[in-house]
Amino acid sequence: MQTRTRRTSLSLLSFALALTLAPLAHAADAAPAEGPRALPGSLPLIPVPAHLERVDGAGYTVTSTTALRAQGDTARRVAGQFAHVLRRSGGPTLQLSSARGTDGVRFVLDGTLKTGAEGYQLRSDARGVTVQAATETGLFYGAATLSQLLTGGSNGALPALRIDDAPRFSWRGLMLDSARHFQSLDEIKQVLDAMAEQKLNTFHWHLTDDQGWRMEIKRYPKLTGVGSCRIPAGDGGRDPATGAPRPYCGFYTQDQIREVIAYAAARHIQVIPEIDVPGHATAAIAAYPELGTIDTPLQPLSEWGVFPNLFNTEESTFAFLENVLAEVVELFPAKYVHVGGDEAVKDQWEASARVQARMREVGATHEMDMQSHLIKRLEKYLEQHDRRLIGWDEILEGGLPPEATVMSWRGTEGGLKAASEGHDVVMSPVTDMYMDYLQTNSPNEPPGRPLSTPLGRVYGFEPVPATLARDKQQHILGLQANMFTEHTRSYARLQHNLFPRLAAVAETGWSPRERRDFADFLARLPSQLQRWQAMGIAYAQTPFEVEADIRDDRKAGTATLALRTPLGYDIHYSVDGSAVTAQSPRYTVPLQQPLPVGLQAATFFDGQALAKAASRFDVTAASLLRRTDEQLALCPGEGKLLLRLEDDGPADGERAIFNVNIFNPCWRWEGADVDGIAKLRVRAGQIPYYFQLAHDEPQRRFVAARSKHGEMDILNAQCDGSPLASVPLPATPGADGFITLEAALPRSLKGAQDLCVRFTGDTRPTMWVLDALTLVPR
Ligand code: ACM
Repeated sequence: MQTRTRRTSLSLLSFALALTLAPLAHAADAAPAEGPRALPGSLPLIPVPAHLERVDGAGYTVTSTTALRAQGDTARRVAGQFAHVLRRSGGPTLQLSSARGTDGVRFVLDGTLKTGAEGYQLRSDARGVTVQAATETGLFYGAATLSQLLTGGSNGALPALRIDDAPRFSWRGLMLDSARHFQSLDEIKQVLDAMAEQKLNTFHWHLTDDQGWRMEIKRYPKLTGVGSCRIPAGDGGRDPATGAPRPYCGFYTQDQIREVIAYAAARHIQVIPEIDVPGHATAAIAAYPELGTIDTPLQPLSEWGVFPNLFNTEESTFAFLENVLAEVVELFPAKYVHVGGDEAVKDQWEASARVQARMREVGATHEMDMQSHLIKRLEKYLEQHDRRLIGWDEILEGGLPPEATVMSWRGTEGGLKAASEGHDVVMSPVTDMYMDYLQTNSPNEPPGRPLSTPLGRVYGFEPVPATLARDKQQHILGLQANMFTEHTRSYARLQHNLFPRLAAVAETGWSPRERRDFADFLARLPSQLQRWQAMGIAYAQTPFEVEADIRDDRKAGTATLALRTPLGYDIHYSVDGSAVTAQSPRYTVPLQQPLPVGLQAATFFDGQALAKAASRFDVTAASLLRRTDEQLALCPGEGKLLLRLEDDGPADGERAIFNVNIFNPCWRWEGADVDGIAKLRVRAGQIPYYFQLAHDEPQRRFVAARSKHGEMDILNAQCDGSPLASVPLPATPGADGFITLEAALPRSLKGAQDLCVRFTGDTRPTMWVLDALTLVPR
């Protein structure tokens, strides 16, 4: 239904009352962050250099009058990039001088240095600072380090030091899904800038999927003509005035792709295209039905999940894929081409007599062998064109040519197996490296996939498995963060999801294992926040917010607030309405306050406020009676596919967001004090069930409706047995997209109770979702 706004205070998300009960906690969340603690001699650099040594003597301060010197086209080009990045990161504006000299800032390209392909040296003393390297790439990374040293609060002042630096891994990647949601060229360029600033060097571009084909292919114009538009589910896909379909469209022309590749190349980033086969292919099959396995016409999908639609196995389809790859290799200079291979459930191939005949023809005894046959075929094609095939770890199934590289996403086991067999591997496990997973338990998180993957978990990921034999470890090329965008409708959300977590990925990719230290990283991060601010990057606020556990002392007329913050930075607070500063009282123990409480709290490091706004907790006798979906627990024993989902409408503007377990939706208030409570009031919305989950689909559970439109049931802690109370549901929500229902509680119910709310009736095509639960006194 059309939903305009969820709560009146939604636009003030950072001020929303938060009684965080941590229903989404990941195992890694259980341990409190150790908090920031700088190691001796640490400087605010991310990633931390391999060798950094402070030396005796005075340092140097760079100002706008400092000479910037470089000789030769290459060094001058890097020096120019340095000046640009420095200015953009909040530093002074330097002019490139053509005069020789040994003072000021000097960039020196010297092929005789032993700095390797990407390494550099940086030296500073009272006379100036010199960056030198054997390669342009190394010099560029030296420039990135120097720019960081001069910004983020240092005001251009450098201590005397020596840095000798080079990366641990050659693949330091980010995958961006431009198929589910589309990003503009300017947005992609800003992401590339941010990657380069932290020495990330691989941009894996996910350009095709069930929901959209985003790359112009000259030979097959319908791929984008048909495949680049979908009609979003529900109200988002309809014109609010006329009800006419409102497609979501977008693709990149080959010229635009060239522009992105050139922009990335100038920042020493390779762009790896992904054309996903044989699954995630619905958009292509919608454009050219002869590529599909079934006769039913298809449209680019407006649902999320895993779908059965596979390319068929005809020779003509293989030729189509090779023709597509021909344009891909023409356009993309990178050594690797990604061919997907993930989540291709084989139901359609199993059911197709034609595919089964083709399997006999090629000698495949299992559908996996057929997939392997296709992958080998594409590998051969790519090899003939001087390229290497990379794919998700499913490409291991059915056998893989030795030259193929494996991207391990279903954990690290696939990567371990592949590396043990001699394949090169990039580690990007869903448990640690997926940026579409939530990063905190805050109600201000955008939609996404739990469990939460907090910064500390991302930082703690080690790409080389302990059990991998020493002589195979060189096969681990590196690691990659994956940013799938089903839930990422806006660039603001994309930035929220990437930053600050991408900084942790960058450090693991670059810095020696023994130099990584999370507490020290947290002490270096606040400077990076200042740089991102200068660069116009809207990093997530939620890791720097304050969360509160609010103990319900309403009978005593008080509330006790236990404060914490996800990363363990210092918390300062005020309860008198005054603005919170670093001089406000520092939080140490839970605060018991008479009602009403107006508490503001914020995180600080070295006097620097880390979030844009203080977190605010307005606790009243009434607010203690209310919980939002974020503050409620899941059904007992459930942890399966809880999602943080947004409403389908309105088509434009802000939408409500709901925490929901789509396999078994119910919401529980544990330990609700029901003494003196007459009834429960529930505010609920309704969203389309826009998922397909292939073989997991039978796990979807709901309780059959007992009346025409079903009912809202209030149950006990186990969410089973006969309901304590039940009220019928209307056919649809009200004009604002919500309903409010009231259910009387039995008078016999007393004391602390675990209450469960569920809605009966099929969750397809639409499902009711809880927005807030309120105890209403007698
Ligand atoms: C993936 O997440 N399906 C690679």
